[in-house]
Amino acid sequence: MSSYTAELKRKGIRIGLVPTMGFLHEGHLSLFRLLDGRCDQKAASIFVNPIQFGVGEDLDKYPRDEARDLMLLEKAGCELVFAPSSNEMYPPDFQTYVNVEALSKPLCGKFRPDHFRGVSTIVLRLFNIIGCSIAAFGLKDYQQARVIEQMMHDLNLPVELVFGETVREPDGLAMSSRNKYLSKQERDFAVLISKALEWAKEQAESGVSNCAEIVSGIRDMLKSRNGIEIQYIETVNPETLESQEEVGDGVQVLLAVYIGRTRLIDNIRIFRSGVKRLV
Ligand code: PAF
Repeated sequence: MSSYTAELKRKGIRIGLVPTMGFLHEGHLSLFRLLDGRCDQKAASIFVNPIQFGVGEDLDKYPRDEARDLMLLEKAGCELVFAPSSNEMYPPDFQTYVNVEALSKPLCGKFRPDHFRGVSTIVLRLFNIIGCSIAAFGLKDYQQARVIEQMMHDLNLPVELVFGETVREPDGLAMSSRNKYLSKQERDFAVLISKALEWAKEQAESGVSNCAEIVSGIRDMLKSRNGIEIQYIETVNPETLESQEEVGDGVQVLLAVYIGRTRLIDNIRIFRSGVKRLV
């Protein structure tokens, strides 16, 4: 892959990359549209990165369907796919990791301690191998987006980043490969997540400025279903991910819940009416 893309670069071809773990959905495909007109060739990586999964997490059962992925990628105008094996990416002597210190610690980082270290490490390596000029990520993984942005800044990496809005099912559920794990009943419960976040946005817009009040409202909405277990609901500064008590000019509300055995995350930017959205 490196020598192939080096040749493309020599010809002045700009590669745009969408890094994925496969089992693609509309959220991924929308990222290829985001690359339209911003690069000469679109590439994808499909790699279920073992080092971003913790002990007891869903690495082994993470959904995979490479044949379907390849078909969808072709339709999305993706010309280049990098789908290495775990052994190729992590030979026994592998020992170098990238850690974006502060941004990796809160929120999901509290519950998945090495997760973002795994993400930063693989993303940097994918960028190096594929030699992309631009890469697209979804904002559903908001903390991941901030971690990668910070890594690019800190390490002076010459890859432009673009971020796509969360793509949702018609009823509001954020698209995720993990939605596949949900039973019919769990899927019905899952709709509450986006409903609660939309409610939070309306509260802020109608003048509620106290974050604790908003978080408590979200908690009550989610707790109305026995099958939902809340891992965290937090309101943070959108840049630093530090906890915020007041909505002010805008906070990011992020949450993680378990529905049965499935862990889902979602987030939304909330702000007072009259404040212009930054992202
Ligand atoms: O968002 C994902 O699918 C993964 O975390 C990524 C960025 C492909 C790294 O493995």
